[in-house]
Amino acid sequence: MKKVISISRRGLLQTAVGALGYAKCAHAGGAQHVAIAVNQKDAASKPMMTYIGTPTSRVDGRAKVTGEAKYAGEFNASGLAHASVVASTIAKGRILRIDAGEALRVDGVIDVLTHELRPHMADTDRAYKDDVAPPGGKPFRPLYDDRILFNGQPIAVVIAEEPEIARFAASLVRIEYAEDPHVTDVYRQRDDAIALKPAQSPWAPPKPRGNAAKAFAEAHVRHQGEYYVPIEHHNPMELYASTVTWDGGGKLTVYDKTQGVQNVQRYVCGVFEMKPDDVRVMSPFVGGAFGSGLRPQFQVVLAVLAARALERSVRLVLTRQQMYALGYRPAMIQQIKLGANADGTLASISHDAITVTSRYENFYRQETGWSGLLYKSANAEYAHKLAHLDLSTSCDMRAPSAATAVYALESAMDELAVALKIDPVDLRVRCYSDRDQNSDRPYSSKSLRACYHEGAEAFGWNARNPEPRSMRDGSELVGWGMATGIWEALRMPIAVRIVLSANGHAEVSCATSDIGTGTYTIMAQVAADMLGLPIENITINLGDSTLPQSPVEGGSWIAASVSNGIATTSMAIRQDLMRLAKKMPNSPIADDAPDEITLADGKLVSKRDASHAVSIADAMRHGAVDRISQEKSTTVADDHSYANNTHSAIFAEVKVDEQLGVIRVTRVVSAVAGGRILNTKTAHSQIMGSVVWGIGMALHEETLVDHNFGRVMNANIAEYHVPVNADVYDIKVIFVDEPDAIINPLGIKGLGEIGIVGVAAAIANAVYHATGKRVRDLPITLDKLQR
Ligand code: MOS
Repeated sequence: MKKVISISRRGLLQTAVGALGYAKCAHAGGAQHVAIAVNQKDAASKPMMTYIGTPTSRVDGRAKVTGEAKYAGEFNASGLAHASVVASTIAKGRILRIDAGEALRVDGVIDVLTHELRPHMADTDRAYKDDVAPPGGKPFRPLYDDRILFNGQPIAVVIAEEPEIARFAASLVRIEYAEDPHVTDVYRQRDDAIALKPAQSPWAPPKPRGNAAKAFAEAHVRHQGEYYVPIEHHNPMELYASTVTWDGGGKLTVYDKTQGVQNVQRYVCGVFEMKPDDVRVMSPFVGGAFGSGLRPQFQVVLAVLAARALERSVRLVLTRQQMYALGYRPAMIQQIKLGANADGTLASISHDAITVTSRYENFYRQETGWSGLLYKSANAEYAHKLAHLDLSTSCDMRAPSAATAVYALESAMDELAVALKIDPVDLRVRCYSDRDQNSDRPYSSKSLRACYHEGAEAFGWNARNPEPRSMRDGSELVGWGMATGIWEALRMPIAVRIVLSANGHAEVSCATSDIGTGTYTIMAQVAADMLGLPIENITINLGDSTLPQSPVEGGSWIAASVSNGIATTSMAIRQDLMRLAKKMPNSPIADDAPDEITLADGKLVSKRDASHAVSIADAMRHGAVDRISQEKSTTVADDHSYANNTHSAIFAEVKVDEQLGVIRVTRVVSAVAGGRILNTKTAHSQIMGSVVWGIGMALHEETLVDHNFGRVMNANIAEYHVPVNADVYDIKVIFVDEPDAIINPLGIKGLGEIGIVGVAAAIANAVYHATGKRVRDLPITLDKLQR
């Protein structure tokens, strides 16, 4: 089985040369550096780029592969106790009685905490709201009272000297319940789903335009279909875990598996009515999160509760099975109606969605608007309803709303192409939208046409016979399908501190996370280029709530946000250095205006004449300073006059065993327009990982709930299928050239989530092309092909 990895460097090099005037290409071997200096005038206005845009290897790679990098469940403390969760076995009702007697008699058990027997917790809903997605409704309060809201809800915590003892004793806790009727089936709740009003929240459906119903009725060709995506569960490698160290005097350090240390800090302070100075939250490394760690998970509350009860350090790691009690992509029933004109343009788009949330909260994202954003149509309408089920609240999962909505849209577009007898790529080009029609704005940049073109060329799309079942490879039917992807290019306010030492070493600090995406690395690249230092001289501190302010790492927004933060703070450092350098006797840069001086190779250099230079070390020595420290915050200077999005075109080949219906995804080409690519290596990995997840979405992933018990039946990765190496063949990632001078000074859009959007549809469309069978509910398993 071969796996081909390739990156188109052509586009990147053009970006680098065209916009930056300076580029370094690291080849596969690593050490060869090529500096290209062009267009001196242009170069003068921009910082030197040595690291940005290159395939720099992870600066934390060694720490990760040697085990030096510690994760939340690996931090140690003297006298560490271990906690284990007792979970509800009913979906709804009340706890009548908890008998922990037998558990408490086990040698090594320290205590059993329940809602009746626990330290004080806040008693207002407000205290339990975190700042990621404070959905409407009442936030869940772990171990708060006798009410059961979902199966798997934590109802007791056993604390012992060893994790095995805690887990064993947890199995001995006896619970008596008073059970209430529950509903966990979205199809049973469908008619009772509650409609969201347009503009009710930022995630409510966009306003309609034109008259979609009339245009649909009068359309030359109509397609209407219902598409279903099941509940899918987060399965990051790292288990949800918290280690809480009791630091004395009521102070705690919380090592948590999270995408936002400051969010968890505020939340813990709210729930336990603690002062921010008494709670430090750390998350230096995260073993994948993808949205599961955006909101604080219940194990952090339970671990803190236990530490406060015992006045002792406590670790709590959920089992893989227990992780299925939270953290899932909402199931989604979607109705798409497309009306087409004879020339293959769209007359109307209607997108209706029903998504799943809990009884107690209204979690949702803007599911439907992607349709009328992506394609040009004068008439569009959207509707979105929430189905409240007796499950825990659904949550963000990689490209929340787009991964699901675009699956339906792009399946429907493929069906429309078949009805119109138009090539699927051609249909999308005919419906291409150069403006965001939902908000009537131009894009800051949109290179989706290049994605279609370069993706189709790399895939060999022109050789496709449009007839289903027309292509074969021995006993396998071959299918080629494609789809479009879209995601947002968001930026958030952030603060960055840089401390520059006279020895030319810089420490860059921000409370952001690196959820495995490569944030340490891109931060080091940007800092090195902005400060004109070798990357080896940069130290990155992140994942610590005491560091300068950061939002959670999510929505693919941190790369752009933190890079802007570093650039902004670097400017302040440069100002300080300039002041020092200009004060030097006979300073070679005395006559240069501030914007004529750049930082490069450890020096302040005149852009007019590179021989006019002062080393950073000399400037600081003459000024008698041994360190310069600056901390700056960015605001998001967004005037809302442009739409900011990333795009992609995905091409997939499947081979389907004609007798058995077994599907293999033998080739995928993903062509991505994501602005400037900071690191071609980690960006490539992001997209490749997302494509693999898209294969899972298309063919494997499905949470199965036994509706009699309201309980997940396949709560383990033996029965909840995720793609493994044997499911992954050839994935080619292309980054098309997409300069963006508007979005931010560096032209960064951010990546990651865009990689999954459209993949499931491209595969579903390929399966149709191979077999002539249209499956409209995911995952496409072999039994559905045989129906
Ligand atoms: Mo992502 S779903 O915003 O971590």
